[in-house]
Amino acid sequence: MKKIAVLTSGGDAPGMNAAIRAVVRKARFHDVEVVGVYHGFQGLYKGNYELLDIGSVGDIIQRGGTKLFSARFPEFKEEEYQLKAIERMKEAGIEGLVVIGGDGSYRGAMELTKKGFPCVGIPGTIDNDVPGTEYTIGFDTALNTVVESIDKIRDTATSHENTFVIEVMGRDAGDIALWAGLAAGAESILIPEEDFDLEAIITRLERGAARGKRHSIIIVAEGVMNGHKLAKHLEERTGVKIRTSVLGHIQRGGSPSARDRVIAGRLGARAVELLLENKGGRAVGVKSHNVVDYDLQQAFEQKHVADLSLYTLSKELSI
Ligand code: ADP
Ligand code: F6P
Repeated sequence: MKKIAVLTSGGDAPGMNAAIRAVVRKARFHDVEVVGVYHGFQGLYKGNYELLDIGSVGDIIQRGGTKLFSARFPEFKEEEYQLKAIERMKEAGIEGLVVIGGDGSYRGAMELTKKGFPCVGIPGTIDNDVPGTEYTIGFDTALNTVVESIDKIRDTATSHENTFVIEVMGRDAGDIALWAGLAAGAESILIPEEDFDLEAIITRLERGAARGKRHSIIIVAEGVMNGHKLAKHLEERTGVKIRTSVLGHIQRGGSPSARDRVIAGRLGARAVELLLENKGGRAVGVKSHNVVDYDLQQAFEQKHVADLSLYTLSKELSI
């Protein structure tokens, strides 16, 4: 291959820029040209792209967001849009595509590969929910942002002896809630992977109160329930005023952590190698700290599983 393209798609994640940089630098190292596609699959369909030289990805390794912008473009599920995108790429002399995003973006990459255009997926989402990899770029940074926010809320919760419900992102996955709850010492953690049990939360609140605890932090993953709704349920049941904080998009921003930058560099470089080895239809990922690659199809056949041993542990540590 002499020319490849790269795009970012779905929700942005800290470390996407570091991955773009790695793709460009690794490809240029092998004398391969790289085209940056703007606005994900929308830009691919519209031909909204330009050549990225070595200097164009300078000074972005430390920046959150994505230099290439991202978009949700549901039209890309339709074959007509996919074929147009392939036609445009061929006209531009592009021979392979690196897609940085979550499993939705991987479906786009899979459709293009099935139609004869080789694609490789790099997992970039704060949710850590891409099947086939233990890690997705952006999770570590988002997790640290969430923990820092909970620590701050804890200060005021302690001072005013309040109970707080804090809603975090994660779509259908509980990883952010689970890891953040454990790291911040939350009293209760609610994740979509476990049954919702209002009485269990109340029992924990009462047990804490009985031993003199006057504040409490309850982390709820957005995939379980809206934080305000949970607070209402708890208020109705306990008669105690509950504060709610929805962290929202602050979780998606910020300078990527060292871990996210390093993993982005490793995965970006491996994705380019795969294309140069003519191995389209693959996804790169991390398993037991090693970089791995696997068939893109597997990402849809498997299901991401959160580490539920952390859930059990959090209950034991926050009695
Ligand atoms: P993520 O990649 O973070 O999971 P989305 O699920 O929103 O985010 O998917 C991102 C984009 O990927 C969509 O807006 C669409 O352009 C493309 N996409 C998602 N599903 C498909 C599909 N089945 N076929 C083709 N493209 C898809
Ligand atoms: O996939 C990343 C994510 O931030 C999810 O955690 C969240 O559910 C979703 O994107 C929010 O999407 P939007 O920014 O389009 O509201």
